[in-house]
Amino acid sequence: MLGLAIGLGQPLSAQTRLSGNQFLTPQLQAMQQDADVNPISLWVEKGQTLWRNDCQSCHHAPETLRTSAAEFPRLITRNKNTRLINLEDQINVCRQRVGQHPKGLEDDDTLTLSALLHSVAKGQTIHAQAPADAAGQQRWQDELAQGAQLYATRIGRLNLACMHCHDGKVGVNLRAEIVSPGHPSGFPIYRLN
Ligand code: HEC
Ligand code: HEC
Repeated sequence: MLGLAIGLGQPLSAQTRLSGNQFLTPQLQAMQQDADVNPISLWVEKGQTLWRNDCQSCHHAPETLRTSAAEFPRLITRNKNTRLINLEDQINVCRQRVGQHPKGLEDDDTLTLSALLHSVAKGQTIHAQAPADAAGQQRWQDELAQGAQLYATRIGRLNLACMHCHDGKVGVNLRAEIVSPGHPSGFPIYRLN
């Protein structure tokens, strides 16, 4: 519905809280919502098999981790070393628990399990949050400040910062796409191009 209202050449407010899905054509939105035709369904199915083999013994059904995907990235401390990890890092930590070698964040099996955990988290609000202790809270603030700085730093071939598009040009056409506020809420995704 919203997809129809967007893309009229009028920049929207940078405060607009919409997922990139809302900026797809109505046809693509319909495909996203229909499990029978959305290719991600194949990944989720494969994820269920991997889950039964490698994860279920400790975690029971994937639904028991319903909020998990929405709570990454998170700060973890191991051996006095604190670092930010995302869901795919956690999946790799756990895969080593069942004797698998750690694989890349974009590895097929890692993404497959990530797709499964995101599918059970559908509808959850993202709530990545600081650890409870004072040192963790300070570190979290430092990470946020670094992220905000990167978001405003010009990089890459176009020499643009994230904010030049995702703050300044929300709702504007860029080639075949319409620039959204750039929320990372719908991943992993299956790209058609
Ligand atoms: C030249 C413009 C431009 C710049 C600069 C840019 N993006 Fe994007 N970005 C896009 C377009 C176009 C899309 C695809 C349509 C959409 O969802 O916004 C996109 C998509 C995204 C998405 C997916 C949004 C969703 O809901 O699916 C995220 C997340 C994102 N960008 C983050 C970033 C980050 C972080 C940076 C800086 C490192 C950045 N972008 C820089 C244009 C840009
Ligand atoms: C041997 C037991 C064990 C197995 C098998 C296991 N995990 Fe875990 N998992 C844990 C423990 C313990 C934690 C708590 C955090 C930590 O110590 O890493 C955890 C945490 C997690 C979390 C974060 C949960 C939260 O707090 O939101 C996710 C996601 C996860 N595991 C995914 C997986 C996946 C995917 C697999 C299968 C590849 C798997 N785990 C297999 C023990 C296991």
